[in-house]
Amino acid sequence: DLVAGLLATPASVSPKYFYDARGSELFGDITQLPEYYPTRTEQQIMATHGSAMAQQIGPVGTVIEWGAGNCAKACQLCALLAPERFVALDISVDCLQAGAEQLQAQCPAVEVQALAADLTADLTLPTDLPLERRLVFYPGSSIGNFDPPQALLLLQRMRALLGTDGALLIGIDLVKPVEVLEAAYNDAAGVTAAFNRNLLRHANRLIGSNFDERDWAHHAFFNAGRSRIEMHLKALRDVVVRWPGHTRRFAKGETIHTENSHKFRLDGFKALLALAGFSKVQPWTDAQGWYAVVLARP
Ligand code: AVI
Repeated sequence: DLVAGLLATPASVSPKYFYDARGSELFGDITQLPEYYPTRTEQQIMATHGSAMAQQIGPVGTVIEWGAGNCAKACQLCALLAPERFVALDISVDCLQAGAEQLQAQCPAVEVQALAADLTADLTLPTDLPLERRLVFYPGSSIGNFDPPQALLLLQRMRALLGTDGALLIGIDLVKPVEVLEAAYNDAAGVTAAFNRNLLRHANRLIGSNFDERDWAHHAFFNAGRSRIEMHLKALRDVVVRWPGHTRRFAKGETIHTENSHKFRLDGFKALLALAGFSKVQPWTDAQGWYAVVLARP
């Protein structure tokens, strides 16, 4: 997958390759940046409207967090919903394992399970996991990292995990002034740039390539036509990259497209949810209307 993306013209790779141990750590740093509003805005919405959400959701048997990372958001949710079980899914195993252990220590009344999963592939949950009263939790606007057809597929997969009494609680980043959007992906401290370039180091380990981070510039901008932030790595000079069996030449200025981060309008997102089999949609937003946490039922 990675090789095919690197050999394509223009080159394009899945953002899932950001998340080796260092990438997950850098993403954690991004969430603390003054320019990166999504994480703290989502937290504010959860803090302000959490009780209303819990009331609407009702009793929860199993929370399934899609892309749980270090499980930082799980504790707050467990305090709100008091589920019997919490299943944390993520591709970054080290981060997940440590996060799940910490969560178990913080919330001893909840049975915590960690499952390594590539969420872009088909997912099988343990067969003994009860179907009743499941809540899929997908915070952080990670759904925005998928193109609309893939996002629909993911929502359909989430729907398939739920019985008729289940629910989805999902965070989405909304369209807002372009300066705010672009600043969030071009922070002054350069953490997002380091996060973007770290993908090259990860690629070197995965496929044995010889990318040199110093040859590549971070490039992030809002593509208004597609309502998404795009992140690219741009070759600062002519670059030749080799790995077993392949040579890939990049001309100066050529890019590797590393991420899309879609910014939604509530109506558009509701339509996507409806296509995936969710109705009864209730959104909560912040005062500026920058971000939404949406509850949807099958
Ligand atoms: C994980 N995901 C929702 C982040 C985003 O905002 O799209 C990843 C990220 N990329 C750059 N900064 C943060």
